[in-house]
Amino acid sequence: QPSPPLQVQGKTYARDTYSNATPTILSKVGKNLHLKPNHPLSILRSRIEAHFPQFQHLNSLSPIVTVKQNFDDLGFPPDHPGRSLTDSYYLNKQEMLRTHTSAHEVELFKAGVEQFLLTADVYRRDEIDRSHYPVFHQMEGANVTTRGEGLARLEKENEEMRQRLDSANIIITDPTRETTATNPIQEEHSEEEARIISDHLKNTLNTLVLRLFGGLRKEGDQEPLQVRWIEATFPWTSPSYEVEVLYEGKWLEILGCGVVKQDALNRSDVPQKLGWAFGLGLERIAMVLFSVPDIRLFWSEDTRFLSQFNEDSITPFKPYSRHPECYKDLAFWTAEGFHENDFCEVVRDVAGDLVEGVQLIDEFVHPKTNRRSVCYRLNYRSMDRSLSNDEVNEIQAKVIETVVEQMGVEVR
Ligand code: PHE
Repeated sequence: QPSPPLQVQGKTYARDTYSNATPTILSKVGKNLHLKPNHPLSILRSRIEAHFPQFQHLNSLSPIVTVKQNFDDLGFPPDHPGRSLTDSYYLNKQEMLRTHTSAHEVELFKAGVEQFLLTADVYRRDEIDRSHYPVFHQMEGANVTTRGEGLARLEKENEEMRQRLDSANIIITDPTRETTATNPIQEEHSEEEARIISDHLKNTLNTLVLRLFGGLRKEGDQEPLQVRWIEATFPWTSPSYEVEVLYEGKWLEILGCGVVKQDALNRSDVPQKLGWAFGLGLERIAMVLFSVPDIRLFWSEDTRFLSQFNEDSITPFKPYSRHPECYKDLAFWTAEGFHENDFCEVVRDVAGDLVEGVQLIDEFVHPKTNRRSVCYRLNYRSMDRSLSNDEVNEIQAKVIETVVEQMGVEVR
């Protein structure tokens, strides 16, 4: 018996063998935390938007995009792992939940937009822990222009930004200037052009980081802010970079970026333009700036969370007493093709936001039968209330029933 088509926000999507977006995931569509007044993600969005006053600020593009938008238009090869059903959520073979805000670059370039900031929810199948959630928010920034006057303006801005950075308390480490063999400039660009664009990208993001993180340091603290640039690879940019910020002794990766490949601009019908793009993860940054210890808190409806923040300032989250956690172990023989992300998905779908973590705690292969046994520890905790043991047992039973049914595993 065929399943009914998927309904999302009043629209209907035919199902096929690709459909793997679950009701729990689809229920997040339209929540728009980045637009919720006084929500940390919205406060952060406004801060960054203020850093780019001339850019178009776009905040309401639908998360349902075509596979072409999300992957093909950006030059992802057909066998790229990001396309797999274990990594991404599909409505059907043609339509999916965007995995990144870059999915909109080509359509916006096509529409003639040259400078934009686009904030939106993105969806990825992933492990479950305090800093991973299958829905999160990204901000895409792009700046393309024409040769001549356009590039001259970038050069002038480079000069201004460099002066600001020179007089600021910031140390920028950038070994990527020497890695041209593995991270090449494009043959369509002269060395001079590539340098102006890369420098503009780096200066722009270094000043943004200074603005966001510079104020974090405590009064009288002479320690400079530390930023480092790392070589990266993205199918639609070259050279490509990642940016990390030193925070409490750890390097925190906050964004990916690069010089947009001419290929992507040709596909956008603007072959004469050139420029850069970046994509930053809002939760990552907000967790640090607002001292939020668990990514699920952003989804909390508890006023003890929501009432703590307001648009005028960035204030650290004051933890209120957390409700107790409860864990249950689950051991089973895996079936052929078992994938941890599929398991996490089932858990997430059954337990919703009540699951805090799923951790592999034991595993072995039976020497005779070659079967693999795994044991997972499932951590349950609500952000908003106390869970009773009965309730957790009931959820756990339902998890077991569903993994047996859907994944063909055998509970031990
Ligand atoms: N979309 C990339 C990601 O999600 C980030 C990125 C954006 C990289 C724009 C390059 C240019 O990791």
